[in-house]
Formats: sequence, C-alpha cells, structure tokens
Amino acid sequence: MYYKLFLPEGKFNFASFIYILLKDLYYLFMNTTRFERLRSSKVLVTGAAGFIGANLCEALLELGSIVVGLDNFATGHEKNIKSLKNYPNFSFIKGDIRDLEDCRRACEGVKYVLHEAALGSVPRSINDPITSNDVNVGGFLNMLVAARDTGVHRFIYAASSSTYGDSKILPKVEEEIGKPLSPYAITKYVNELYAENFKTTYGLDTIGLRYFNVFGRKQDPDGAYAAVIPKFVQLLIKHESPMINGDGTFSRDFTYIDNVIQMNLCAMVTENEEALNTVYNTAFGARSTLNELVTLLKEYLSVYDATIADIEIQYGKERKGDVPHSLASIDKAVKLLEYTPQFDIKKGLKDAIQWYWENLN
Ligand SMILES: NC(=O)c1ccc[n+]([C@@H]2O[C@H](COP(=O)([O-])OP(=O)(O)OC[C@H]3O[C@@H](n4cnc5c(N)ncnc54)[C@H](O)[C@@H]3O)[C@@H](O)[C@H]2O)c1
Repeated sequence: MYYKLFLPEGKFNFASFIYILLKDLYYLFMNTTRFERLRSSKVLVTGAAGFIGANLCEALLELGSIVVGLDNFATGHEKNIKSLKNYPNFSFIKGDIRDLEDCRRACEGVKYVLHEAALGSVPRSINDPITSNDVNVGGFLNMLVAARDTGVHRFIYAASSSTYGDSKILPKVEEEIGKPLSPYAITKYVNELYAENFKTTYGLDTIGLRYFNVFGRKQDPDGAYAAVIPKFVQLLIKHESPMINGDGTFSRDFTYIDNVIQMNLCAMVTENEEALNTVYNTAFGARSTLNELVTLLKEYLSVYDATIADIEIQYGKERKGDVPHSLASIDKAVKLLEYTPQFDIKKGLKDAIQWYWENLN
C-alpha cells in the first residue's frame, strides 16, 4: 500500500506522515539488531574499489565487521577506498581474481565472501568477450576454489538481471529465465551454474544476487561503459544534452545502492536453510522508463541549478543486447531473506543526486 503525504485537495496528510515515520523507524531498528551479529565477522569484498564493492565495505565497517578489500583497479578507483582506509578494521589487497594465489591470500580466515569483482557492461562484453569471460568466469571460478579451500562459511556473489535474457515475462521471477543476449549475460549465468555446482560437489554454501540496474553514490560517470544514471547526471550538471538509446520507452527496475546493501546483509545473516544455494532478484520491484528517469533527473537537479530543467534530450539508435523491459518480482527475497527495500527510485535519486552535486561539481 502506498501512503501519500498530501491528500488530493492539497492538505498535508498527518496520519500518513506518522505511519511512514513509524514504519521507517521500525525497519531501522529491526535491521540494526538483525545485522548486529556481523560485528567482528571477517568479510572479503572483491571489487572493493568499485561502486557496489566500496559501498558494501563502508556499510560493513560501520557495523563493526573486519573487512578485507580486493581489487585490481581495472574499473575501480583509489578514491572509492580512500575513506575506508580510516577504519582500523579495513585492509586492502591489490590483486587480480584471475590469479588463484591472490584469491587464496584474500580468502584467508574469512567467514563471508561478497564477490563483486567483474567486468560489467553489456557493450564492453560485446567489444571484448574474451576479457569479460576471463574475469567474470575464470576469476569467479578462482574465487570459488579459494573460498572452498580456505573454509569460507558463505559465498555471496553479484549475479545479474541480464540472465533473464530474451524472456518476455514480467515481472521477472527467479525460476523463469530466457536465453542470454550478450557475452556478459552468459558469464553471469555461468556464475550461477558454478555456484550451484560448488554446493552439490564440495558443500560450499552460496547465494547469488541478481542485481537490477543499481545506482547511487560512488558510481562512475566516466568512460564508454558508464551506467546511464551517473552518465546523465554528469552531462546535465555540465549543461550537456544526454542521449537516450532508442525512444526512451524501454524500462528498468532502477535499484538504489542502499537496497543492494540491505540485500547483501540479509544474505549474510540468514539462518534459513531454505534461503541458501539459490539466487534472488535484487531490486526495488517497480519500473520506470528512460523518459521518466530523465524527467526526474532534470527535476531533482534543477533544485541545485534551475537552468538544467531546460536542457534538451537527444534520441539515438537502440543498443545491441539491450532488453526492452525489466522489472523484478522481489517476493522470493522478501519471503526467504526478509528483505524490505526502503528506497524507491525517487528517494534513491534524491540522495544520489545530492552526492553527485557535492562530488562532481
Ligand atoms: N551496477 C549494476 O547495475 C550491476 C547490475 C548487475 C550486476 N552487477 C554486478 O555487480 C558487481 C559490481 O558492479 P559495479 O557496478 O560495482 O561495477 P564496478 O566496475 O564499479 O566494480 C567492479 C570492480 O571489480 C574490479 N575488478 C574488475 N576486474 C577485476 C579483476 N580481474 N580482479 C580484481 N578486481 C577486478 C574493478 O576494478 C572494480 O573496482 C559486478 O559483478 C557486476 O557485474 C552490477
């Protein structure tokens, strides 16, 4: 049920306000106590200098976990781990998941692995499928072997919504996937197959999180393979006109980073046997078209600079390998992992835009 803060006649809805406040406080309290047990647990986060990895490290350090970060800076940045180095519980290994010895060293004494390191981006994998495969499949396998050999308790990994491929079913439910549409999607699906096999063959517990278009602080706006939200935000801040591939009617379940953090923590603490050795959609569970997204970006950025509201949007050709629509069912995660995402696209974008305004300007 969605509670509106303003009634149709424009009056402030006090009852809704109290409900939303109490709900938020309840979830804050429940999640804080639930994740308390991660205090002092040793966690390896691979891809720690990347967008999602760095955010996960920070959240875990705030909870009091002992965090080891691993990254080779292929697409990650030193600036993402700079503030993490202020925490005494953080250590960093510069290493490559394609090197088994680096993986073994990083897994030493670790209870949980959050495996985020990979080469993201569908177009990158189309341009260079071999490197994407080496990192995303070869590196993934190295990490599983290292986790198995060092006695890791649970291996949680970044899977992807791209695994739904050409399936037209909406919303996407975990058990119904289509054929992959890109080399990247193949690599992410192979990860799921390997993870399942490492349970049946070696007894390693795993959980795969199929991320849906994640956005938020620390996401890289630069480069040919940048994700749409940070790229468009950066262009709009510079008063440049963003270009939408296609007519803007394609839709995505844009997922704020704090929902993704919560999902990872849920996967770490669950004691529900039924919840292990499977995959979960990691999303908010609502979709927006690219046209709607750009409208929101312009609206929220124009709070900082009113002229941004007048910037024109350009439209270009559709991109190869892009699926038209994506929307997750999050029922499985809600039921088995007690996942309760707190950020819809609007709430997430407001936070993200404030961060970009302060950090890109
Ligand atoms: N961002 C999304 O919307 C999204 C969606 C679906 C899945 N994912 C997956 O989530 C994970 C994190 O994505 P992200 O958005 O933070 O990307 P990112 O590029 O910001 O982070 C990936 C990190 O992995 C590191 N890395 C790459 N190759 C490596 C190697 N050989 N050895 C060690 N480190 C290496 C990079 O340097 C980078 O810091 C990836 O596995 C990605 O495929 C992301």
